[in-house]
Amino acid sequence: MNPPPSALPGHTRTTGGYEAIPVAEGVHWIGALDPQLRNFDIILKTANGTTYNAYCVRGSAGVAIIDTVKAEFADEFFARFEQVADYAEITTIVLNHLEPDHTGALPELLRRAPQARVHISHRAPLMLKGLLKHNGESLDFTTVQQGDRLSLGDRHLRFLHTPFLHWPDTQCTFLEEDGILFSGDIFGCHFCDPRLFNDRVGDFRFSFEYYYQHIMRPFREHVLHALPLIEALDIRLICPAHGPIHRDAPLAYVKRYHQLAAPQLTNEAGQHAKTLVMFYISAYGNTALMAQAIKDGAESIDGVRVSLYDLQGGEVTPFVDLIEEADAIAFGSPTINGDAVKPVWDLLSCLTQVPLKGKLGAAFGSYGWSGEAVGMIEDRLRGLKLRVPCAGIKLKLIPTGEELAQCHAFGQDLARHLTGQAAFRVIDMTELA
Ligand code: FEO
Repeated sequence: MNPPPSALPGHTRTTGGYEAIPVAEGVHWIGALDPQLRNFDIILKTANGTTYNAYCVRGSAGVAIIDTVKAEFADEFFARFEQVADYAEITTIVLNHLEPDHTGALPELLRRAPQARVHISHRAPLMLKGLLKHNGESLDFTTVQQGDRLSLGDRHLRFLHTPFLHWPDTQCTFLEEDGILFSGDIFGCHFCDPRLFNDRVGDFRFSFEYYYQHIMRPFREHVLHALPLIEALDIRLICPAHGPIHRDAPLAYVKRYHQLAAPQLTNEAGQHAKTLVMFYISAYGNTALMAQAIKDGAESIDGVRVSLYDLQGGEVTPFVDLIEEADAIAFGSPTINGDAVKPVWDLLSCLTQVPLKGKLGAAFGSYGWSGEAVGMIEDRLRGLKLRVPCAGIKLKLIPTGEELAQCHAFGQDLARHLTGQAAFRVIDMTELA
């Protein structure tokens, strides 16, 4: 059991225990506060915790639960729920997203309200089965699609198909009569303030932006697909799955998502040029020589703009922005102790933050003994779902004039793949023997 929120400063009620907090007439927040959390999903920092937001909606023909909470906070969730409804009244459980921070209390909720019908997006069934299988439970459920509606009598829920915000299963649910969007993770943030509403809590702008950058940015194309569905609604309140409820100027958060999902950099290269960004680091200048020759080769192909950066002279964040906008990326690294060097891995480790699908990748580098770095970088690029069309080029120590010509040709080859000019390679079947 976690400490009651009444023990925390600024709680909305002065009485003890877990209170259900009214959001609108017949709509209550019944979530949980987790003020001690400092790392979410291992990778995401939070300076003052988070909230797991769940909601209870009362209609004339039944009660709906929208999402639940992380398993450790189930007691808090049930205690709040019991103040506003009985389990026997629950007709509907809507799961906007099946990640365990929102479904941890589901098995127990189903035991307490076995009559309730679970509604999930049509992309969620396998995840739901995966969540419940360890309990040996099976479950009948209803899948919903874009625009499907569900009646609670005098109130209606409408479902928005918004996949990959930020899992394949994610959806939003709109309470039509009240203009309330239960948005799941989108528009949320890890910020715990028991005053709960955006016009009452502390300044959470940093958390909102940070959350977008780390959770939604890799799926920005999906964000851009979802926003028109959301903007078509008459929204009066946004109830996300984490952090403050946006009751003051809720559309400002939708507008901000539009800005955040837009390209971070303007396309100076124009509409038609393909962009190749190259990063290298060099111990004795040999990988730098290779980088320059590859750059020259790529630039000799029309329709390609090439930019070359020494990783010793830059910081990761602007480079991530560049990569997000690029059509192709190439990494050059020497091999030291059988590995690519740390600045290369540092940048590569940040690329899960940006969409990479459809980009080309390449690797090159000089080496002294063994030259593993090039293959390791290529493996990482493929693991990130980039296409690596040209076998990486690695050279022993100081490149000769002939080897630099190979690098030049490598750059040309990469550029031709980028512009769609590369000829298909005819494979001699004897090569495969
Ligand atoms: Fe808040 Fe993606 O779970």
